[in-house]
Amino acid sequence: MNEVIERAVGILSPLCGEYCKIGLILGSGLGEYAEKIENKRFVNYSELPGFPQSRVEGHKGRFVIGELFGKTVICMQGRFHYYEGYPQSQIALAVRVMKRLGVEKLLLTNAAGGVNLSFSPGDLMLISDHINFSGSHPLIGENDADFGPRFPDQTNVYDRELRERVRLAAKAAGVALQEGVYMMFSGPTFESPAEIVFARTIGASAVGMSTVPEAIAATHCGIKTIGISLITNMAAGILNQPLSHEEVQETAAIASEKFTKLVDRIVTDVF
Ligand code: HPA
Repeated sequence: MNEVIERAVGILSPLCGEYCKIGLILGSGLGEYAEKIENKRFVNYSELPGFPQSRVEGHKGRFVIGELFGKTVICMQGRFHYYEGYPQSQIALAVRVMKRLGVEKLLLTNAAGGVNLSFSPGDLMLISDHINFSGSHPLIGENDADFGPRFPDQTNVYDRELRERVRLAAKAAGVALQEGVYMMFSGPTFESPAEIVFARTIGASAVGMSTVPEAIAATHCGIKTIGISLITNMAAGILNQPLSHEEVQETAAIASEKFTKLVDRIVTDVF
């Protein structure tokens, strides 16, 4: 096993116990959800030898372990981005650590730009599939067969059965849910208007700079995955206004109640 993973598991495992089967990765402006976790145990990424560090504003950079509705969860409060300069194999590390800790189901969340013209800022979107347009891939390099096969199937990255349950849970909670394809660009620039026309033409409903490496790594090692995008803005060129990280964080804050309601339901009814 990779030594960085082994050492991280050694530090985290005593805090997780035997029944930590749920992983959460919280995106830009959504990290506050971790405050709901009870009996919190914190491990900063900086305490894990060789682990990448998260440096983006709005990302805290730590694991939070604790209980949600009586279930033990491990949550990444702040994630790693390809645009920070990490190879995607490094971004996959955290997911592999979760796998080793016993995680079976993973919720990935992100802030994203709306490409589908029927979307509005503040909408939540269940990710049905993705387009990896980042220019890289988390499984490049020697394959570690302990985690999964060299050529993994990608037909069910966002687990079909769990997605159906998320739709039902959203309905029960009275939370409106869009659904669509998430397309990953590398960033760190927001996309150009021409890139957004391209994204829509090839079938994307939302664009962002994360999630895909983690989803690929999770599926590779057999973790069932759900992805939720919060549409924080309409993507470039749709509205006559510039995009900013501040706008992303502001919309995330405004939509946090709805987001929390949905994630609560996912933890209680779906996972
Ligand atoms: N593009 C890429 N990433 C994003 C966006 C966007 O418009 N909004 C939030 N994250």
